[in-house]
Amino acid sequence: MTEEQGSQWVSSEKDSFLFANIPATYYQTPIQELLERGGRIKKALGKDLLILAHHYQQDDTFSLADFSGDSLYLAQQAAKARAKYIVFAGVHFMAESADILTGDDQIVTLPNLTAGCSMADMADHDQVEDAFEQVEEITGAKVIPVTYINSTAATKAFTAQKGGVVCTSSNSGKILKWAFSVGQKVFFFPDQFLGINTALAMGIPREEIVLWRRDKHDGGLSPEALKRAKVILWDGFCSVHQRFTPAHVAAVRKRIPDVTVMVHPECPAETVAAADFSGSTSEILKKVTEAPKGSKWAIGTEINMVNRMARDFKAKDGKYIEVLNPTVCICSTMYRNHPAHVLWVLDHLAKGEVIHRILVPEPIKSQSRAALTRMLELSA
Ligand code: 13P
Ligand code: SF4
Repeated sequence: MTEEQGSQWVSSEKDSFLFANIPATYYQTPIQELLERGGRIKKALGKDLLILAHHYQQDDTFSLADFSGDSLYLAQQAAKARAKYIVFAGVHFMAESADILTGDDQIVTLPNLTAGCSMADMADHDQVEDAFEQVEEITGAKVIPVTYINSTAATKAFTAQKGGVVCTSSNSGKILKWAFSVGQKVFFFPDQFLGINTALAMGIPREEIVLWRRDKHDGGLSPEALKRAKVILWDGFCSVHQRFTPAHVAAVRKRIPDVTVMVHPECPAETVAAADFSGSTSEILKKVTEAPKGSKWAIGTEINMVNRMARDFKAKDGKYIEVLNPTVCICSTMYRNHPAHVLWVLDHLAKGEVIHRILVPEPIKSQSRAALTRMLELSA
């Protein structure tokens, strides 16, 4: 879909799943009208309303945001927010983290409740707990759990109980360094690629990084391999980022010799090694912002963000940007937050009614807050 088509887009039969949980009057309304009505509600609610959007959000929804950024920045914004209502245009774990970091009198909503993260779903709480206990028992070492923020509140609570911490793609090096200052081994989940990329960047040899396979007895690892390991990785991954390969890097370098290749650290280690730079979505944006006029970039991350950057930087200072993998790498769950969903939520808030609330139950809320707060303190 082109940018133009995107902003004109109204419903059709094939979008029935996307719009399953909102009335037809919303998705049959032209986008421009949805955005204007959203703007009016924002004005009317004033300081009572805060809309946060992740970089991967589709353009129209993105345009309604008060703040946009990477996972760390959005968690920081939520932690200091005073608004009564926070509408989180992101995925489920992001809204959950915002609820954990805000007060009980603040309400966090997710425009479309089916906007999950497949990576977070790969780390089931019971499976993680069992695996962690086995690693502790087999190695006899002090093991620190580190969970990527792309995980459920229950696994964050477990992490806190075991003296661990949350990380994001922009602070994982700092967080792992802290974990090694208090323990001997790190149990990193759910993303094997952020885990290995961070460990390798810290100079930990490959032989000391092992992959725990959920479907195998003892994770498919011998006691010797576990005892030798410094980092034990869960076998989760991002279905979007795993699709960027070293072959894509080689192809773009051949076609555009003066290109700079940047990828997100959720990409496979071989892809990160072949690229010039890897970083969180905010770091990618910063790098291009600071680059000389007319520079050329191939970026390995989600298509909505890369397309937006390509359009904005071309207009601003003639920079050329293309997506590293030419087949569409879209976060289809993030995409589920269409402006129709945002307006459906906003219309209710304008009447003092709440729908699509994300509410983490106690004691998980207080327990997981400890792991998130520790991350925010270590990132300050
Ligand atoms: P960032 O924190 O880098 O924005 O990444 C979030 C994410 O889910 C990437 O897939
Ligand atoms: Fe989850 Fe991947 Fe989407 Fe990020 S891009 S929210 S890791 S599915």
